[in-house]
Amino acid sequence: MDGHVAIVTGAAQGIGKAIATVLAKRKAAVLVSDRLFEKAEQTAAELIANGAVAAACEVDVASADAVHAMVERVLSLWGRLDVLVNNAGITRDGLILRMKEDDWNTVLSVNLKGTFHTIKAVLPVMSKQRRGRIINISSVVGAMGNAGQANYAASKAAVVGLTKTAAREYASRGITVNAVAPGFIDTAMTASLPAAVRESLLKQIPVGRFGVAEDVAHAVAFLASEEAAYITGQVIHVNGGMYMAS
Ligand code: NAI
Repeated sequence: MDGHVAIVTGAAQGIGKAIATVLAKRKAAVLVSDRLFEKAEQTAAELIANGAVAAACEVDVASADAVHAMVERVLSLWGRLDVLVNNAGITRDGLILRMKEDDWNTVLSVNLKGTFHTIKAVLPVMSKQRRGRIINISSVVGAMGNAGQANYAASKAAVVGLTKTAAREYASRGITVNAVAPGFIDTAMTASLPAAVRESLLKQIPVGRFGVAEDVAHAVAFLASEEAAYITGQVIHVNGGMYMAS
């Protein structure tokens, strides 16, 4: 990916940080963008210390203006944009009857609308280049459902519909749009799961372990590569066999 430029949202920590690290190892210049600016700066500094080209950017993907500024920033730094990874995501869990409308709206604003904003902002740039890779991070619960996560599961299922639509609209411009749907991955997002829940989840994973962020990052890096040029509108499940899509 030498000479290529990537934006990874939510890249300050967790899966996003692992994606930024793998893309940087493959010689892409990476914009580490996150709502948490100091942490994003730390991540970018680590990448640079390891010989990569990287920079940090503060963004709330729920804001169209902030997303627009992020794309302007990457263009002013490196003059092009080859890869967008929509990884920023949040949970606000609760059973449907107890779920507050605000929790519904917040999760949909970040996970779904945020993905829409970034795709919309990069398409003109990638169209002009007649080349681009967009990878959206969905979730196994978008395919399976999960008690207590109506807002999150709905947002992640909707990201798949958005992915397939963007793939159809922009395939002729050399832009591929795919999704990666992680299963249960050891990050801050899953760290607070009670031990009993972890135990019962483990029993549902044939591979016999939770995933690590790098498991997801390698699937993303493949979709971002030249070798994946003929793959578009697809969902790659990275879940240790927990859910097997047809
Ligand atoms: P995490 O909570 O460790 O990291 C998420 C990052 O996104 C954080 O750095 C956070 O500051 C950033 N972020 C949150 N809201 C943002 C916003 N509005 N604008 C910009 N940045 C924002 O979570 P993790 O586990 O690394 O998750 C990454 C992605 O993978 C998310 O989309 C999540 O839904 C998805 N995922 C995670 C799974 C897991 O088991 N950890 C399973 C399936 C999907």
